[in-house]
Amino acid sequence: MRIAMIGTGYVGLVSGACFAEIGHEVACVDTDARKIDGLRNGVMPIYEPGLKELVARNVDANRISFTTNLAEAVAGADAVFIAVGTPSRKSDGHADLSYVYAAAHQIAEAITGPIVIVTKSTVPVGTGDEVVRIVRETNPDARAWVVSNPEFLREGAAIDDFMHPDRVVIGLDDEEARATMAAIYAPIESESSPVVFTNRRTSELIKYAANAFLAIKITFINEVADLCEAVGADVTDVSRGIGLDKRIGTRFLNAGPGYGGSCFPKDTLALLKTSEDFASPIRVVDVVAQVNETRKRAMGRKVLAAMGGNPRGRTVAVLGLTFKPDTDDMRAAPSLSIIQALQDAGVRVRAHDPEGVEQARLLMNGVEFVDDPYAALEGADAVAIVTEWDIYRKLDLARIKQLLAAPVLLDLRNIFTRDAAEGVGLEYHAIGKGIRPSADRAQSTRIAAE
Ligand SMILES: NC(=O)c1ccc[n+]([C@@H]2O[C@H](COP(=O)([O-])OP(=O)(O)OC[C@H]3O[C@@H](n4cnc5c(N)ncnc54)[C@H](O)[C@@H]3O)[C@@H](O)[C@H]2O)c1
Repeated sequence: MRIAMIGTGYVGLVSGACFAEIGHEVACVDTDARKIDGLRNGVMPIYEPGLKELVARNVDANRISFTTNLAEAVAGADAVFIAVGTPSRKSDGHADLSYVYAAAHQIAEAITGPIVIVTKSTVPVGTGDEVVRIVRETNPDARAWVVSNPEFLREGAAIDDFMHPDRVVIGLDDEEARATMAAIYAPIESESSPVVFTNRRTSELIKYAANAFLAIKITFINEVADLCEAVGADVTDVSRGIGLDKRIGTRFLNAGPGYGGSCFPKDTLALLKTSEDFASPIRVVDVVAQVNETRKRAMGRKVLAAMGGNPRGRTVAVLGLTFKPDTDDMRAAPSLSIIQALQDAGVRVRAHDPEGVEQARLLMNGVEFVDDPYAALEGADAVAIVTEWDIYRKLDLARIKQLLAAPVLLDLRNIFTRDAAEGVGLEYHAIGKGIRPSADRAQSTRIAAE
C-alpha cells in the first residue's frame, strides 16, 4: 500500500516507520522543514529507543521518504493518515483541532484518485464528520472515505507497541474503506493483536475512554498511597495485592507524583468538554483531573517539608525531568510543577535528565542543568527522584549520601527501598510507604479501634 503520513512527530514518525517496516511505501510529511531536513540526514527529531535504526533500515530499503510537500505525498496514495497535534485549546481546554482541519483541507485539495483519509490523531467524537464536510466542500468530486484509527502507542515503548498492539481500532461508516484498512494492518493483526472494527464515532470515543480509564487507575493508586502514608501501610504491596486480581491487573498501579505527558492531561480535559457539550457528565474524570493537577505541586511541598525549616537559598537536586523514562517529552511533566513549587519557596534547583534537558531548557527558568546525576548531588540539601530512568536505579546510595550536604532522599517513584537507603544513612521519603515504628503503629491501631 502507498501511505502518506501527515505530521512527523512522536506518533506520525513511529507509525510511518513501522508501516514501512511491514512493507508499505510511506511518505512522511511535516510543515517543519528543519525536521524534514534532519530526517533526510538521519537525525531524529525525537528520542525514542530503536527509532533511528528503524528509520535508517527503511530509508535504505526505499520504503520511507520525508517531504514538506503534502500534495506530492498524497497524490496516488491509497491512504493518508493525519497524525498532527491536538493540544488543549488555551481558551477552554477543549482539543485544538485547527491542525487536523488544516491538514484535512490540504489533503482534500491534493486528492487525485480514490483515497482513505485516516485520523490517527486523538480527536473528539464528531471530528470525522467535520473532516468529511471539509473534504466535500473543498473537493466535491473527490472519492474519499474518512476513517478513525486512534493510536495507543506509549512513548518509550512506541515501536513495540505499534508492531504488537493489544488491539487496533478502526472506525468507519463507509464499507468501501474497510478493505484498504484491513490490508494496511494485515501484517500486524494476530490473535494477540486483533483488529476491532466499529463505527467512526465509537472509535473516536474509545481512545478517550481508554486514556481516561488509565488516568483514573493512576490517580486511584496515588490517593491510596497517601492513605498508606497516613495509616502505616505500604502502597507497593497494596498494588500487588489488588493487581494480582485479574479483574484489576497489575499495570498502571505504580504510585507516583501524578500523571503527565502529552496525552492524559489533555485527553481527560477534552473528554470532559465533550461530555459537557452533550450534557452527559463523566464526573469521575472531572475529579481525577483536579486531583492530579493539585498532586504535582503537592509533591513540591513534600520535598520542602522533608527539608525542614526554611528552604530559601538551599539547593535541591532533581533527577529526572521528562514525564516518564525513555522519552525526551516534557509536555505536562510533573517536574515542571514540582520545580516551580521549589523555586517559589526560594530553593535553587540543579537538575539532570538523560534525554530531556534540551526540551526542559525551553520550559524552565533558573534551573542549573548538569550532565551527570552525581554532579547534581554535590552539596545539595536534598535529592528528589522525579522520573524513574534506569540509570537512577543503578546509582550508588552510599555515594549519594557522601555527596549531599544533607542526607535527604525523596524517592517519588519508589525505585529504592527504605532498608537500602537508611542502611547508608539516608533519610528516606517515598510515596505511600507509611511504615512507622511498631509502638506508634500499635497506638494508631488502638485509636482506630476506640
Ligand atoms: N505522543 C504520544 O504518545 C501519543 C500517543 C497516542 C496518540 N497521540 C496523539 O497523536 C497526535 C500527534 O501527537 P504527537 O505527540 O505525535 O504530536 P507532535 O507534536 O509530536 O507531532 C505533530 C507534528 O505534526 C506536524 N504538523 C502539524 N500540522 C501539519 C500539517 N498541516 N502538515 C504536516 N505536518 C503538520 C507538526 O509540525 C509536528 O511535527 C495527537 O493527537 C496525540 O494526542 C499521541
